[in-house]
Amino acid sequence: MLYAHIFDTHAHYDDPRFEGLVDEVFRCQRASGVDYIINNASDEPSARASLALAEKYDFVYAAVGVHPQAAGEVTDGWLVRIESMAAHPKAVAIGEIGLDYYYDVPDRETQKQVFRAQLALANKLGKPVEIHDRDAHGDVFDILCEYHPAGCLHRYSGSPELAQEIVRKLGMSLGIGGALTYKNSKKEVETVRLIPMEYLILETDCPYLAPAGRRGRTCTSDMIPVVAEKIAEIKGDITPQEVLDITCQNAQRLFGIR
Ligand code: NI
Repeated sequence: MLYAHIFDTHAHYDDPRFEGLVDEVFRCQRASGVDYIINNASDEPSARASLALAEKYDFVYAAVGVHPQAAGEVTDGWLVRIESMAAHPKAVAIGEIGLDYYYDVPDRETQKQVFRAQLALANKLGKPVEIHDRDAHGDVFDILCEYHPAGCLHRYSGSPELAQEIVRKLGMSLGIGGALTYKNSKKEVETVRLIPMEYLILETDCPYLAPAGRRGRTCTSDMIPVVAEKIAEIKGDITPQEVLDITCQNAQRLFGIR
């Protein structure tokens, strides 16, 4: 089955696993119906690398920002440098930013400071955010309620009830990826069942989180239809291609890409 209008809202093609392979991988993506990719930064060097990819490939865009796990390594002037990178015409979001209590490094206060600074920056620039939330649902939600940014929670992993709150109170979108297709994905399935299509967007987080049936392989954006098929199955009244069409339009609107 050949699909069209695949929008991968969260990828890491600057990962060492793609070194020397990006040209070939991207050629395959385009031929497989991938129309847009947002490469997400994890720190300053990877924000620069994301912009370099966006400059080289017309269908690639960048999210620039500092991931919570890198929050302890920021150096003087980091926020000003992120701000100047965000002025690039292909920098469509601030990301990925958030809190990670799974690894819990650096300390939570440092993570929160760097998170808050970037939420304020996103609002100042009028840019959407891509949120990383691992085992920090309560604090992430409370802080988002302070700033009310536009954007998405990438690889949403909270409860279905919290998902409804996020949509209702914050109007933010949920990034759905390969984890939806895993065996113990009850929460994710229930979330997709409850949340209206207009708040869902698709992502890989590649090279991580390849969907069921492809696990162990390096994940790439052309695996997104496996997730679209699962969403169509859960919703019951929509085809996988319609899922791709709607989520692509949602993401174009959210990130201001025509
Ligand atoms: Ni990521």
